[in-house]
Amino acid sequence: MYLSLLITFMCFAGEVFSSSLFSPCKKSDLPCIETTVNNALPKIFDGIPELGILKSDPQFIAVIDADLSALKYTFYNSTIYGYKNCEVSNLIINDDLTRISGRAVCPSLHMNGVYDMKGVLITLPIEGNGNYTFEGVSFQLDFDIKLDKIKGSEGKTHFFIRKITYKPKALTPIQFNFQNLFNGNEDLAAVVKKFAKENWLDITLLLQDPTWEVSIDLLKTAVNKYLATFAIDDTILN
Ligand SMILES: *[C@@H]1O[C@H](CO)[C@@H](O)[C@H](O)[C@H]1NC(C)=O
Ligand SMILES: *[C@@H]1O[C@H](CO)[C@@H](O)[C@H](O)[C@H]1NC(C)=O
Repeated sequence: MYLSLLITFMCFAGEVFSSSLFSPCKKSDLPCIETTVNNALPKIFDGIPELGILKSDPQFIAVIDADLSALKYTFYNSTIYGYKNCEVSNLIINDDLTRISGRAVCPSLHMNGVYDMKGVLITLPIEGNGNYTFEGVSFQLDFDIKLDKIKGSEGKTHFFIRKITYKPKALTPIQFNFQNLFNGNEDLAAVVKKFAKENWLDITLLLQDPTWEVSIDLLKTAVNKYLATFAIDDTILN
């Protein structure tokens, strides 16, 4: 009697505190895993204060610093919106659950903040500081995740994302809007605006890496905090 009460309590506690965002799936049932991941991520990205998980949508980034050979820029106080709308698909998971690859499509991201930039943008001299916005950002990210399996103090096994490699691909033209270029010189700014519109893809390729690096790292931290609270064996069934 006492034992069965204890077991009931432990199962209940396990469910409430650990696997509540991921519903159980068989290891081979990829559609089930895809659905449960797509249901869980927006809730993790919303932030879970009880678990110390910060909001990822919007995601705040204090400083993004880039020193390319011909162009130096810093983005301050940036906010990225829209990670909650990303959808994961094409999952491939290896047998011992240490590697997951797939594709995330994020159809409606945007970003704003304060910039400071000086140098040559592809071929065009550029200089300015002020507010910026990047609108109409739609990306596909092919990712490959290496997972560690870690024994928690309670004896259960948890996932930990060790490394994410990814390949971003912009799906639609991005509108780059830098305010106060050339200290407010509208003629010079108009040249950059036209150039940015015509060369959005090259500019994306030039500018994107430092932002992805910081942003994905923050997403990884948030997801890892969640993963530490749920036990693999309760969720992924053989
Ligand atoms: C970023 O935000 C902080 C806090 O609001 C502010 O003190 C700082 O001046 C901002 N930085 C820039 C470059 O606007
Ligand atoms: C820059 O953006 C901030 C926050 O959106 C706003 O309060 C401020 O007025 C903007 N500054 C300029 C010069 O547009």
